[in-house]
Amino acid sequence: MKDFLAISDYSSEEIQDLLDLAVKLKKEYFKKGNKKIFKGKVLGMIFQKPSLRTRVSFDMAMRHCGGDALYLSPNEIGLGKRESIADVARVLSGYVQILMARVFDHEHVLQLAQWSEIPVINGLSDYNHPCQAMADALTVIEKFGKKSKGLNVSYVGDGNNVTTSLMHVSAQLGWNFTAATPEGYDPNPKAVQIAEEIAAKTGSRLTFLRDPHEAVKGAHVIYTDTWTSMGQEEEAAKREQVFPPYQVNAKLVSEADKDVIVMHCLPAHRNHELTDEVADGPHSVIFQQAHNRLHAQKAILARLLGAA
Ligand code: CP
Ligand code: NVA
Repeated sequence: MKDFLAISDYSSEEIQDLLDLAVKLKKEYFKKGNKKIFKGKVLGMIFQKPSLRTRVSFDMAMRHCGGDALYLSPNEIGLGKRESIADVARVLSGYVQILMARVFDHEHVLQLAQWSEIPVINGLSDYNHPCQAMADALTVIEKFGKKSKGLNVSYVGDGNNVTTSLMHVSAQLGWNFTAATPEGYDPNPKAVQIAEEIAAKTGSRLTFLRDPHEAVKGAHVIYTDTWTSMGQEEEAAKREQVFPPYQVNAKLVSEADKDVIVMHCLPAHRNHELTDEVADGPHSVIFQQAHNRLHAQKAILARLLGAA
């Protein structure tokens, strides 16, 4: 595969292979530092939206392995405004060896991949967030072991880009995926259809509910995300009215499996979708998750660059 645009573009075996490589690169990093497998390689990072984790973890992933990264801010290139996406892709293909893009419209990252001669990684779009899901899967495997088939993953809140990729990685790895979302905020129907096709092959069970309490019964993982994603700011006030019953708080966590882990891709809006008590409590793995972006992305970069 030339690019990394969606979890569903890869087979279960390929996803597992990336996770195995991430485990290996993480071990290597903490033992003696990573080998300089990205020497002479530069990652161009196009951002149409703000970022902490994606920007820093990709930059550091390149540096740890002897490569470099170049940050291109929203104001600099004006993707599709100052210059067409096709032209940006073809110009950058001559300057850097690999691209990562965070865009508003998923179509734009697809166009970048179509026109660039170098690999393109999706660093979040309005449709999905595949790098996040790889770090999440790495975190789940670290907690529950590689033989994690049949695990119950429950997503509570807004059916958004993070939900799409989490649902797809769960289906790929044979985890049962449940989403509890309010009416009007369901996971993307196209993404659900793709998940169902994957689940039919792997034996994963997919369930879509309204009731968060029903959704977390027997859950090994509870996952939530912001109620208002980047680009939806004008809906924030309305969403603050709709979502409070979906808050992940101590009461909801107590209704899940006793060893449940609580996940959030961050940034968290504390005491909105996730209480301080839970975010900083014994079930939370939110910082391990954030740190695993580094290792999961090293594996993605390594495979796309043919460096491992
Ligand atoms: N989770 C995540 O992608 O964080 P950033 O928006 O800070 O990159
Ligand atoms: N759903 C969130 C994720 C941020 C990492 C957003 O798109 O803003």
